[in-house]
Amino acid sequence: MKDGRGIALVRGFPIGDHTDEEVRMMYWGMSQHMGTCVSQDPNCALIADVKEKGLGDNTVARAYGNKHGTLCHVDLADTVGLLGVRQASQGARSTLASSLTIYNEFVKQHPEWLPAAFEGFFWDRYGEQKQWEGELSPSKVPLFSFSKEGQLSVRYNRNWITRASTRRGIPFTEEETAILDFFDQMGREHGLPVTMGPGDVYFANNYVALHGRESYEEDDQTPPDQRRLFLRVWINVPKLRTFADERLIRFGLSSHGNIGFTSQEIREGKNLIPHYQRVRVEEEAVA
Ligand SMILES: [Fe+2]
Repeated sequence: MKDGRGIALVRGFPIGDHTDEEVRMMYWGMSQHMGTCVSQDPNCALIADVKEKGLGDNTVARAYGNKHGTLCHVDLADTVGLLGVRQASQGARSTLASSLTIYNEFVKQHPEWLPAAFEGFFWDRYGEQKQWEGELSPSKVPLFSFSKEGQLSVRYNRNWITRASTRRGIPFTEEETAILDFFDQMGREHGLPVTMGPGDVYFANNYVALHGRESYEEDDQTPPDQRRLFLRVWINVPKLRTFADERLIRFGLSSHGNIGFTSQEIREGKNLIPHYQRVRVEEEAVA
């Protein structure tokens, strides 16, 4: 996770005959050994259900609540974990990809785009920010950035970037569109399709690895409690990476609204305090 490929795929999580709630508890327990779980959505979910939520084609909704496929992207915390509880009958393979490989393809094929990629893009906050927070990332977030220690971090999610362009009313330049298209194309070409079933779980370092998913279909007759269900955690891992600008690259995206709070902060109601600064978890953790 820290120094290797940035991806760990584990099979055999003991789903067995446990209820969904019991599986959540077991998954939570395992995740505690990885780092500090942080909240992921307006409801402060610490373990998010990734499933069809009946949102239809609402394009404003974040992607984990529908059946549509997602391009390779990163999530907002240091790492993301995804556990299969039930798979749909058709489709929904996951994709994992190395974002460092994509960077290398930029260097090889389109070095002329690197300055704009290093400058980066604004990210939208999907209307999930607090009243006192901005609608967008505080400034452009570099698509690629190197820390002074020489570590590359990649931050990419086309949906969030595109929504920021729409909200600002400033269309992408031709070069920006070409960069985004090329990134997606490389994600498709270099992505590794992974068939995930019950008990399969991956953890991905969001600075060096991307994840995505195919679309899927489900029989309308399938009862809700038997439909596809994956469980997602976002885990912050101190010292997982060094950054050119930690405030922006690590926390600029992952600290707004009810996102980025630890369970202890939520219990103490810290997420309700105006302008409260989320804890920057800095104790050592297993990586
Ligand atoms: Fe994701």
